[in-house]
Amino acid sequence: RPDGVGRLPALGWNSWNAFGCNVNASAILTAANEIVELGLKDLGYEYVNIDDCWSVMDERNSTTQRIIPNATKFPDGISGVASQVHDLGLKIGIYSSAGMVTCAGYPASLGFEQIDAEAFADWGIDYLKYDNCGVPSNWTDTYNACVPDDSIGSNPNGTCPDLTDPAPPGYNWADSNTSIRYDRMRDALLDQNRTILFSLCDWGDAAVNTWGNETGNSWRMSGDIEAYWSRVAQIVNENSFLMNYVGFWGHPDPDMLEVGNGNLTVAENRAHFALWAIMKSPLIIGTALNELSDDNLATLSNKYLIKFSQDPLIGRSAHPYKWGYNPDWTFDPVHPAEYWSGPSSTMKATLILMLNTEEKRSTRTAVWSEVPELKGKGNSFRVTDAWSGKDLGCVHKSHSVSLESHDVSVLIVKGSC
Ligand code: DGJ
Repeated sequence: RPDGVGRLPALGWNSWNAFGCNVNASAILTAANEIVELGLKDLGYEYVNIDDCWSVMDERNSTTQRIIPNATKFPDGISGVASQVHDLGLKIGIYSSAGMVTCAGYPASLGFEQIDAEAFADWGIDYLKYDNCGVPSNWTDTYNACVPDDSIGSNPNGTCPDLTDPAPPGYNWADSNTSIRYDRMRDALLDQNRTILFSLCDWGDAAVNTWGNETGNSWRMSGDIEAYWSRVAQIVNENSFLMNYVGFWGHPDPDMLEVGNGNLTVAENRAHFALWAIMKSPLIIGTALNELSDDNLATLSNKYLIKFSQDPLIGRSAHPYKWGYNPDWTFDPVHPAEYWSGPSSTMKATLILMLNTEEKRSTRTAVWSEVPELKGKGNSFRVTDAWSGKDLGCVHKSHSVSLESHDVSVLIVKGSC
């Protein structure tokens, strides 16, 4: 795309993690105003995204077939809230599913891709998150096929499509699959006279790593995040194996940020954000911004990490270069790789991240000769600490830090000295 939309990881906010189904125009506009007031817009955060539960249940407009915005939640429609978000110089996102209903049971877009894409474009939408709920039961390449009364939420109403009925328009009950469902919406969005970033939320289904970059700007690689450390660590572990798929225009999505939510500590929030940024994941804030603490605002505003994430010349993410702590060298998802590095063109530097996955304070040491980007380039480098912004001077051979449980150190390491 000539406008560059979707080339770099998306930066923004989404309603789900903080508000769930209690989304409405006032929550969206509060978030949008806070993004401006807290200085997040100046740092590049631009999308304000409405998640599930924005529409009327069980019906479409009988004339246009469009999904109907819930008038209590959105008195001025989606287009009303969209224009207010645009007036702040921000962009707006919406949500649907590549199924018959959304995860919360609202009308979704399977078979209605053209109609819905047209409606979204008319309303001024800039971003679509496309979920994977409400999928007919005989489309077996998905683990979330419709199962009556299923417990994972794909079918809260307890009924599945009747397979003796005709399949949704444009589909065939016998031979449709996940990538076909997502490609249909991609093509419908591309038909619109408006750029709409396409975020696939298919939870790693149907080997999305093999086709996600062709279909969308980002693709969810796992089930939902939750606001506690072991879930965050588990997702880091899984996503760490997908770093070869990261590049301009394509980003594995380890789900939205929980910074500010649940019982994550300040250190855990720092680690969560830093890892998302260096994996070049979408950075979609998921907390009530009017209640954000100063510590978490500082984390979300870290200019070194945002610069790394938004590198205009290097699409590659950081990669793990050493595992670090692992109790017995068995597969252990809550102790992901602890040592990561990657290049930054704008900082003309190598970023090194060290994570303490242990339950107690512990020391981590970056040894220059172990870091792929620094190997053979000298013994001494200029180091800046990315959290304090402090220049640590010319550091010889290695740098050690004592980290509290689940905390990270992020170092910006420059030319030899
Ligand atoms: C499942 C997704 O993974 C979540 O991020 C959220 O969009 C919910 N569905 C909404 O029902």
